[in-house]
Amino acid sequence: MPEFTNPFIGKVPERKLTHEELIRAIRLDIAAEHEAVHIYMAHAEATDNPVARQILIDVANEEREHIGEFERLLEILTDGEERRWRDSGRREVNEMIAGISSDEDETTADGRERTVGSLKDS
Ligand SMILES: [Fe+2]
Repeated sequence: MPEFTNPFIGKVPERKLTHEELIRAIRLDIAAEHEAVHIYMAHAEATDNPVARQILIDVANEEREHIGEFERLLEILTDGEERRWRDSGRREVNEMIAGISSDEDETTADGRERTVGSLKDS
């Protein structure tokens, strides 16, 4: 969220960013895009004005594209390390989902959780 009361918040430093500082800056930029999506969608949900809703949602979706651009840039800047961590996280979630799916086998045909008693019925 911009801090308009601080006139120095957007001041460009005297020197250029190092590579590591650039990576951190892009992470901050990604967070700012997520925050923008949150704000625009909250405003869209808070109004009945159809034109305002449509524009807010459209702009929120454009911010989502920006997130993708920054994430791709982060992959490039980190020489693929960022992508490997994200892929690892995705695999973990997929494994959790697979675990949840197999847990569904522990429910009865009508969706009730199996108990020792219901196991005797099957
Ligand atoms: Fe953006």
